Amino acid sequence: MAVRRPLIAGNWKMYCTRPAAEQLLTALKVQISGLTDREVVVAPPFTALETAARVLAGSSIRLAAQNLHWEPQGAFTGEVSGPMLKELGCSYVIIGHSERRQYCAEIDEQVARKVKAAQRDGLVPILCVGETLEERERGDMLTVIRRQTQGGLQGQEKAAIAALVIAYEPVWAIGTGRTATPDQAQEVHAAIRATLAAITDQDTADAVRILYGGSVKADNVDGLMAQADIDGALVGGASLQVESFARIVQFR
Ligand code: PGA
Repeated sequence: MAVRRPLIAGNWKMYCTRPAAEQLLTALKVQISGLTDREVVVAPPFTALETAARVLAGSSIRLAAQNLHWEPQGAFTGEVSGPMLKELGCSYVIIGHSERRQYCAEIDEQVARKVKAAQRDGLVPILCVGETLEERERGDMLTVIRRQTQGGLQGQEKAAIAALVIAYEPVWAIGTGRTATPDQAQEVHAAIRATLAAITDQDTADAVRILYGGSVKADNVDGLMAQADIDGALVGGASLQVESFARIVQFR
């Protein structure tokens, strides 16, 4: 079976001016230096990417963007493309976050175009999926998760799927302080992996890293990371404080 290197990613959302980004990353570099068995990624807002790249030069912490447009360039006012992010030093890009699905009306078809574009432009997509509380309560959780997983990977080759990252983020757990229990998260992660196996094959599915996101904190990360199909975390609020993010990165 594939060995999946754990990945902890911090999603800063619309927080941090450049001075704040510089301060946070300068401290983070010191706190987590020397960890080689896990990958650490931060996703600052677009405006702080260049600053972040400068501060992180020579460190093993990688950069992610929080979104991209599927065209490499063009008349798309307000959008940012893959080649632009690559030029700033990004290695990853978050795609289809529930806040974008909810507030920017992003649908699976657009998410799929972005996933393809990211890979074309040399960025690793972190494809986000997750059900709302209402969907969970009416028993549609796995249907929604399968639809978003298949929808976001529409038309993708096996090799491309093996190389990407999926983040399971139940909408009801994001920013609410209400985390999925390790068992609840594991159930969905296993279902995502089974969906991946069904659209590719077991080896491909076993290669994909599946992160959990939604109120991951220093005091719940260890239990989540102990689950068989949880390969890392996508951390929002707790990634904005050095101490808490450093502890999450150092999960045991
Ligand atoms: P949270 O956010 O950790 O603040 O719940 C997670 C996310 O939205 O990626």
